[in-house]
Amino acid sequence: MDAELMHDIYTQKLTSEEFGIIQTYIQEKCGIRLPLTKKDMVEGRIRKRLKALNLSTYGEYIALVFDSANPDADREQLNLIDTITTNKTDFFREPNHFEFLTQKVLPALEKQGYGMENTLNVWSSACSTGEEPYTLAMVLAEYFGVKGNFRVYASDISYSVLERATKAVYTEEKALGIPHELKKKYLLRSKDQTSGLVRIRPELRQKVSFGRLNLMNDNYNLPVEMNVVFCRNVIIYFNHQTQYEIIGKICHYMLKGACLFLGHSESIHGMDLPLSTMAPTVFYRI
Ligand SMILES: C[S@@+](CC[C@H](N)C(=O)[O-])C[C@H]1O[C@@H](n2cnc3c(N)ncnc32)[C@H](O)[C@@H]1O
Repeated sequence: MDAELMHDIYTQKLTSEEFGIIQTYIQEKCGIRLPLTKKDMVEGRIRKRLKALNLSTYGEYIALVFDSANPDADREQLNLIDTITTNKTDFFREPNHFEFLTQKVLPALEKQGYGMENTLNVWSSACSTGEEPYTLAMVLAEYFGVKGNFRVYASDISYSVLERATKAVYTEEKALGIPHELKKKYLLRSKDQTSGLVRIRPELRQKVSFGRLNLMNDNYNLPVEMNVVFCRNVIIYFNHQTQYEIIGKICHYMLKGACLFLGHSESIHGMDLPLSTMAPTVFYRI
């Protein structure tokens, strides 16, 4: 890229009108609210797309993304969604949820034969780069054995995070959140010891299926009804009405008595839903 173009990109600003177009599109398509305080963040993230596409202004980018005559517009809309979504996650994030699962939820499910003669189905509904569903798979494997009768479904709106999740390769630094004993059981070290990379073992990877799903869709078309759903640190980006509609749709895919885990700063307060509280941010399907 020539120095002049680089210079141009860094001096470019996203105008209020251009920000408004992105804001409306992202809100309608993904449910994500982008208040004006996010303008600089959006500008910085889209700048990466300008660089990748060799464009010099935000106006050119918007014309390209929203031009119905442009055959690449659909693909770039997906890139835009990937760029705007926040994918922060960790293994064993909010660890008391996994303790609650092991101490309260799994014993109750085991009594009903789940994890043994009945398949226990768990859904990580905004799985990002895979740390949450692999944590769930480790917790279930610890409880029922890795050959236990359980399956983890994992979905997200962003293709790029799903690609990384499927590869299941992480830096050793990322894996620091995994207890030592579990690392020994469920992680493979790279053959190149200096790479600083680890991979989830195949027997655990086989327990997790990934697919793209936009929680804004009318219908989720999941293959089974779930015993446990993790919907954490995603509805926080949506407005109250969207949160209500999404949790309502998730409830359709929960068996009676199934558990829903939300992120620690998320709530269903004031929503008329078929859920009852078990613990803060943990609910069961009535
Ligand atoms: C902050 S991450 C949370 C990851 C994980 N659940 C956790 O708590 O660590 C939020 C994820 O939600 C996804 N997301 C945002 N909007 C979505 C939507 N409409 N449908 C499905 N996933 C969405 C993002 O792509 C991102 O990977």
